Amino acid sequence: MTSRWALVTGAGKRLGTGIARALAHRGFDIIAHVNESLRGAEVLRAELEGLGRRVEVIRADIATAEGQDDLVRRAKALTNSLAVIVHNAGIFERKPFHEIDREAYARMQAVHTEAPFFITQGLLAELRADPSPCIVHVTDIAAERPIAAYAHYAVSKAGLVMLTRALAVELAPHIRVNGVAPGTVLFPDDFDAETRARFLARIPLRREGRAADVAAAVVFLVADAPYVTGHIIAVDGGRSCSL
Ligand SMILES: NC(=O)c1ccc[n+]([C@@H]2O[C@H](COP(=O)([O-])OP(=O)(O)OC[C@H]3O[C@@H](n4cnc5c(N)ncnc54)[C@H](OP(=O)(O)O)[C@@H]3O)[C@@H](O)[C@H]2O)c1
Repeated sequence: MTSRWALVTGAGKRLGTGIARALAHRGFDIIAHVNESLRGAEVLRAELEGLGRRVEVIRADIATAEGQDDLVRRAKALTNSLAVIVHNAGIFERKPFHEIDREAYARMQAVHTEAPFFITQGLLAELRADPSPCIVHVTDIAAERPIAAYAHYAVSKAGLVMLTRALAVELAPHIRVNGVAPGTVLFPDDFDAETRARFLARIPLRREGRAADVAAAVVFLVADAPYVTGHIIAVDGGRSCSL
């Protein structure tokens, strides 16, 4: 069988690891991008190589143009054909509006919109070389329904939602571009019991999401949804349905 590569950004932990694992189980070889989670990527590499998949790890800080370009350069050196890019890397940073300085704002834009924009642009020839390429953006339900103290985060994820639609239109008919919008998936470690209970009370399915829940939606968009493009699937246990 010909090798089909999937690039997953932020693959060294949590959702990114789950997405890379699920794609590997569907037969894709994995380019696992990381910044600091090199150890996580090596554990993932060992696991996926055990399944017979090829795994390459690329380390790059994609908050900078140099890091984005470096990732593109190194992915090109690995393959001239790319089936999937999952733009998963993200920064979930709480900051009241009055404390968000230009540096924090720019970092959000860089990781959530510029990196997906320029990494996809840089790898367009490789995507076009695959028979049915697919891009998935990991957005957030907060791109449509913001939460207080995350304005820079919500604005940048809203940009990523529009990038999904813009590229779905422009890169059709060959390349499909979709998104998944997680709700509450894997509570941050610093959430205490009371905070967790407060979040769970607002989720109709009454549990936090798992990385595998998000990964299943990504795999659906990549492998089982050939007539779907420009769409964002909420993976939020129903949270975005209620007031
Ligand atoms: N968890 C949720 O409940 C939830 C909800 C809605 C949306 N999301 C979205 O889902 C995605 C993954 O969420 P998560 O909870 O798994 O996030 P996470 O645990 O905070 O992990 C973020 C990932 O992004 C990478 N990253 C951050 N800044 C980077 C940079 N400058 N350069 C390169 N990589 C960078 C990190 O890489 P390293 O660790 O290698 O540095 C890490 O793998 C994010 O886009 C997030 O916004 C998550």
